[in-house]
Amino acid sequence: MLAQAEIMEFKAPVEMTASESLRGVWDDFINSVSFIDGGYRNKEEMISVLNHNMVLMHKLLLSSGMYRGLVNSSFSKMMRTKYWGSRTIHEDKLGKVGLLSIYQGTPVPLHDHPGTRGVLMVLDGEAELERYSLIEKYQDSQSSGLVELESCERRQLKPFDVTWFEETEGNIHGFEAKTDQCVLLKIQMPVQPVSSRSWYFPTCTFSEEQETVYARRIMSRYL
Ligand SMILES: [Fe+2]
Repeated sequence: MLAQAEIMEFKAPVEMTASESLRGVWDDFINSVSFIDGGYRNKEEMISVLNHNMVLMHKLLLSSGMYRGLVNSSFSKMMRTKYWGSRTIHEDKLGKVGLLSIYQGTPVPLHDHPGTRGVLMVLDGEAELERYSLIEKYQDSQSSGLVELESCERRQLKPFDVTWFEETEGNIHGFEAKTDQCVLLKIQMPVQPVSSRSWYFPTCTFSEEQETVYARRIMSRYL
């Protein structure tokens, strides 16, 4: 809660664009994401650094009127599709920052982020997270069909909790809001040439004892 209190007290020093507010630290933020593929001594250190950087990024972005407007409107100004809303805040060749808003009763199905690495932190609300890796023998497949997923984690995310994904490990995730709305700050960086994205629909209900689950994979171009 200390981080949350600091954010609430933060006063934007000067008015600037979101991109200007990240100038000088953007490379460091991207580096902290790139290191999730084994660049930290342990998981605790990684979570601590990622949490610190995401909170700092949020505070810096509050210098942007556009970002502050979204926060002050409880994110109601975000464009909502039928199921969820998203807004890109800053994007360049290194990566992009955005907000993702999900709503109770309309879960975001399991989906992947091919060729990219990313981190998300809850800003508001709570959500249940499921994260999976595609079993190795399916990783070169670029078609729809039945695949097997290995479970990485399944947990409740509260404000300032972080989650992440690498190109292979935990690259597939899905969310379900446990409050009316849950908003996440997201940073994502390309690592490999990006291939077509897919959605994954488990063929049975996943239980805690299971390590893998079969799912029907559908390339996003067919949805
Ligand atoms: Fe995602």
